[in-house]
Amino acid sequence: MTSGRSFYITTPIYYPSDVPHIGHGYTTVAVDALARWHRQAGDDTWMLTGTDEHGQKMLRAAAANGATPQEWVDRLVAESWFPLLKTLDVANDDFIRTTQPRHEERVRQFVQAIHDRGYIYAGEFEALYCVGCEEFKTESEIVDGTGAFEGLKVCAIHSKPLELLQEKNYFFKLSEFTEPLLKLYAENPDFIRPESARNEVVSFVKQGLKDLSISRSTFDWGIKVPWDETHVIYVWVDALLNYATAVGFGSDPEEFARRWPAYHVVGKDILRFHAVIWPAMLMAAGVEVPRGVFAHGWLLVGGEKMSKSKLTGIAPTEITDVFGSDAYRFYFLSAIAFGQDGSFSWEDLSARYQAELANGFGNLASRTTAMIARYREGIVPPAGEETDGDRVIRETVANAVERADAAIERFRLDEAIAAIWTIVDALNLYITENEPWVLAKDEGLRSRLDTVLYTAAEGLRALAVLLSPIMPIATEKLWVGLGAAESLGRLQDQALRDAGRWGQLRPGTSVNALAPLFPRVEQPGDGQPGAAKA
Ligand code: MSP
Repeated sequence: MTSGRSFYITTPIYYPSDVPHIGHGYTTVAVDALARWHRQAGDDTWMLTGTDEHGQKMLRAAAANGATPQEWVDRLVAESWFPLLKTLDVANDDFIRTTQPRHEERVRQFVQAIHDRGYIYAGEFEALYCVGCEEFKTESEIVDGTGAFEGLKVCAIHSKPLELLQEKNYFFKLSEFTEPLLKLYAENPDFIRPESARNEVVSFVKQGLKDLSISRSTFDWGIKVPWDETHVIYVWVDALLNYATAVGFGSDPEEFARRWPAYHVVGKDILRFHAVIWPAMLMAAGVEVPRGVFAHGWLLVGGEKMSKSKLTGIAPTEITDVFGSDAYRFYFLSAIAFGQDGSFSWEDLSARYQAELANGFGNLASRTTAMIARYREGIVPPAGEETDGDRVIRETVANAVERADAAIERFRLDEAIAAIWTIVDALNLYITENEPWVLAKDEGLRSRLDTVLYTAAEGLRALAVLLSPIMPIATEKLWVGLGAAESLGRLQDQALRDAGRWGQLRPGTSVNALAPLFPRVEQPGDGQPGAAKA
């Protein structure tokens, strides 16, 4: 079943010089969950992620490690960035690297095109640059250094000294796009989400935009400016174009028409690049602007934005090795309101794993399949007459599907999961209230027990479908446990928006032994790897 609707979604492309940490993993799993949801709903979905490999930061890191920049990025991408996708069970459709010829050639073509359309000129430039951000800094983004950097001007984000750069540069006439951008934001209130992000960008652009330096001549690790090979293209211009070059911009018009425009999900730190510079670049080239930009918040550890340079970095494997990738995905996507900052702690992760996953969802699945095995020889019974209590479950499921899908339209993964969790809670309550173990003792209540077992199993069928974009591994185990794979086909082929249609799990289906969905883990403090960091 396909809706015919195109849904193209991207993560930022990551700087491979950093080792992946849970902040990168957060963006990636959010985009993956959104893509999986749309794919399973039948939308013509494409998910892109990748790496941002040019620029001064990379050049310096390579030199410090005695490698050429290409050798250096090849190694980092192979050793750290491809494995991250496996660690987190990400089903991306493509992975772009900005050093690939498919990208470099089209970037030159794009920059040449906006040059030919009169949006680029040569000028002199002098400003303070942060290599960590790969960005020139304005007054408000510069603070006085402390400690070893006392007396120096440092970047407010990286707390490292800025460099005074003075060179001849090519400039993009960004200032000409102040009005067109304000019009874009006014006409498309959803272009930037959430609202707080939108307000921030609108007030920034209202102050008027300055032209943007888009080339560098003091180093050569980048894509050469087509009309002046002594310059390389500014790394952000190069990087933003990945979203277009990956889907055939300039090389495959049919593919580009099918996919473009995209939705971009980014951390709020890089919102302006995506919501201001990027649409302006596209307008200058006469290409459609993105469908929208969603800015999520920061993961905070100990109250600070987590980052490798501030030594608060946590590798995703530290979490997945203990709790598994499903728990990683569930935890970050459910515990943090998507769009706001969220604090990470091992205690919170561990408590939610225990309460919501192991005791809530996992236990519901294991006791339901175990009761079908014990009381009905492993065969899902047919439901008898429906009571009010059974109807409540059926309605809760239908309602949850609608609410979750509406939340996903707003990119609110946390709200979607909360809506789906009403099914988990309702079913656990339903089992407690109906006491199937009591019904099982009375042959006269046989039909009632059938109904209760069917209702619980059918509710779990819906849960497996709805939660598969969030927790692909546990839901697959559940799907097999319910015996649904034989009668209904593959889990990822179940139409998501149809998940609330009651009665899909067929009576007569044989359930299978259920592999534990969320195995017991030692609590922090028990000497687990996580414990030391808590
Ligand atoms: N290479 C640029 C992006 C270019 S996109 C055309 C870049 N890369 S990055 O490696 O620094 O990663 C940026 C993204 O990682 C952020 O936008 C955000 O999505 C994610 N995060 C990095 N640290 C984070 C947190 N502490 N918390 C949440 N997300 C964070 O910028």
